[in-house]
Amino acid sequence: MANATKKAPSKSPQAKTAKGANDSMLQEFFADSIKDIYYAEKHIIKTLPKMAKAATSPELKQAFQEHLEVSKTHVTRLEKVFELLGQKPQAKKCEAIEGITKEGEGIIEDTEQGTATRDVGLIMAAQKVEHYEISTYGGLSQLATTLGFDDAAELLTATLEEEKEADMMLTGIAENDVNYSAAEEGGEDN
Ligand SMILES: [Fe+2]
Ligand SMILES: [Fe+2]
Repeated sequence: MANATKKAPSKSPQAKTAKGANDSMLQEFFADSIKDIYYAEKHIIKTLPKMAKAATSPELKQAFQEHLEVSKTHVTRLEKVFELLGQKPQAKKCEAIEGITKEGEGIIEDTEQGTATRDVGLIMAAQKVEHYEISTYGGLSQLATTLGFDDAAELLTATLEEEKEADMMLTGIAENDVNYSAAEEGGEDN
């Protein structure tokens, strides 16, 4: 990383950890990854209303609407993490989330409004987002602990748990309802 050798900002959290110079590169990587997930969360907030609108099952619509509110608190928590790092919140384009959400938009285009088949696709797309977040927050909370940023670790773990809950909720909606309804839907030749 070219900028790993750059002088640390004056408000660097290095002072808080005092673990030595080797931490600075990892710290920069951590801060960079926070910018990445900050972008992702903001992007998710823009996408969830479209998902809710496209969904048919009332449970699924509600799950998307609820997760929209939860995701707003994820953004707030990340802003607190930036504050703990002595940095201004900054988003860095996350190609992964762009790709995953684009796939979700493709599902909306390729399926018919009012069908359970579309709901199945929306759930799969949403779960890919949740799994992306789960792996990111899992890694980041661990990294925060390693770096001695205990308050940040706590915030990231709280979000991690909520992403897991959302994932389980989506699995529940698929398994208890939507998948069966979709299986009963006729194709074009029926
Ligand atoms: Fe989130
Ligand atoms: Fe999420």
